[in-house]
Amino acid sequence: MTDANQDPLSLVVIGASGDLARRKIFPALFSLYCQRALPDDVRLFGFARTDLDDAAFRRRITEHLTCRYAPGASCAEEMEAFLARCHYVTGEYGSTDSILDLYQRMRQLEPRGKVNRLYYLAIPPSIFVTTAESLGNAGLVSCGEESQGWSRVVVEKPFGRDRPSSDELALALGQVFQEPDIFRIDHYLGKEVIQNLLVLRFANSVFEPQWNRQHLASVQVTWAENLTLAGRAGYFDRYGIIRDVMQNHLLQMVALLAMEPPDELEASAIRREKVRLLRSIAPVSRADLVTGQFVAAEWDGRQVPGYTEDPAVPDDSRTETYAAAVLRIDNARWQGVPFFMSAGKGLDSRCTTLRLRFHPLAHRLFDRSGHRPAPNELVIRVQPDEGMHLSLTTKLPGLELKLAERKLDLSYGDAFRDHIIPDAYEGLLLEVMRGDRSLFLSGEELAASWDVFTPVLHALESESAAPEGYPFGGPPPAAALRLLQWAEDARGCG
Ligand code: NDP
Ligand code: BG6
Repeated sequence: MTDANQDPLSLVVIGASGDLARRKIFPALFSLYCQRALPDDVRLFGFARTDLDDAAFRRRITEHLTCRYAPGASCAEEMEAFLARCHYVTGEYGSTDSILDLYQRMRQLEPRGKVNRLYYLAIPPSIFVTTAESLGNAGLVSCGEESQGWSRVVVEKPFGRDRPSSDELALALGQVFQEPDIFRIDHYLGKEVIQNLLVLRFANSVFEPQWNRQHLASVQVTWAENLTLAGRAGYFDRYGIIRDVMQNHLLQMVALLAMEPPDELEASAIRREKVRLLRSIAPVSRADLVTGQFVAAEWDGRQVPGYTEDPAVPDDSRTETYAAAVLRIDNARWQGVPFFMSAGKGLDSRCTTLRLRFHPLAHRLFDRSGHRPAPNELVIRVQPDEGMHLSLTTKLPGLELKLAERKLDLSYGDAFRDHIIPDAYEGLLLEVMRGDRSLFLSGEELAASWDVFTPVLHALESESAAPEGYPFGGPPPAAALRLLQWAEDARGCG
């Protein structure tokens, strides 16, 4: 911890009654607390409309706290001490009076003098701006004077619905917070395997010379969930899978996979390279996009209702729950290498993988063995079973020349048995407190990401046809498999 992080801190989670706050933010804060990574003088405030007192709020968040970093008997003690620092204020997001109530409560508990303040907007995007304005109007945002302490804001995705609405939001938020104090979060950037991408690419001399069009035939980014939208369908129906995960999580993975090496590990250098890469991606064309929507099916021994059967979804909803797209990067390194992307809810497994496929062999040396070597593949497993493998063709032991494909496998579960893999939100929250913005999106990056998808999103909205149905549990629409040029053995997560 740096000195700045030892200044007193008030961390306010706005929307504290919600799913993200309970399932992710408070558990991550508890993990940091157990690791002594929060300032000694820290208070945590929850704010939302739901009427709760401190005790009820603490009961609610306890449900998801885990003892990963405080095993055994110490856990109960740690939890008690952590919960004693958690407070709750009920109020309306757009009401300056409510925010002043929050401020009053904060002042009662804060020490005199300099206090840093971190506001986490864990609320639907539709109320980001009114909430930020209330914070500003109530005087809760400092102007950056050293004696006052900093005021930072964490904003969740999706940030807008397209480029124009994102620009509008950015402008409005910029009226309250200065750009260096805005932390636009994409929690995939906090995932361990994603953070390893820079190291994998630039700390291993074996990879960088291969990481280009001369050696790679295609890159596939596959994201799948075997879940319905239960509880989040109202939100999801306004956004769809492209805005929910493709424009942000998947595109961020592509940016890190494909960018040029940064000059240094500073946030500004990394962000500069990501922006350059994102700007060199051609906007996705309609011909390069296939969408789908899951329909009812029997899956895993039970009948799962279709997307439009969710009470929060209109019967005639055309929102896509699945999308496959081809990205084309117009630069010297990647010209002609398709970046296939697919993302879907209601598929047969939960996984995220990055698959780099090398060119097939140019010679036919092994044809007489009866086995044509498959192209090598480097598969980076983001989740589950974090790790990576390189598929190789090898001689099967024996007297004859028989070939087969096998994997060189680095599984985190085996290789790092003694290490706990932190949840993405742990690392990201710590970085906000440290003021390091490398893992957060700059305004330029956000704009460049929207530019990749905005035209095709608008084109989709102007169509009357519904996305093609696919049964819950998959497979995805046949047109998607054709677009992705998926061979049987390269499907999905494996
Ligand atoms: P929720 O829908 O659970 O909303 C959070 C809280 O906001 C609710 O508890 C509710 O509190 C309040 N709220 C909800 N809808 C409205 C509304 N229409 N008007 C005013 N207040 C409302 O969201 P999540 O917690 O799931 O997500 C919060 C943010 O984080 C969103 O931007 C989401 O996109 C993003 N996100 C969420 C992830 C997740 O795993 N949940 C993952 C990544 C991003 P109350 O009624 O008490 O005021
Ligand atoms: C969120 C999306 O950003 O990421 C959700 O809004 C999705 O729809 C979630 O389920 C997936 O996150 P993770 O960390 O479970 O892969």
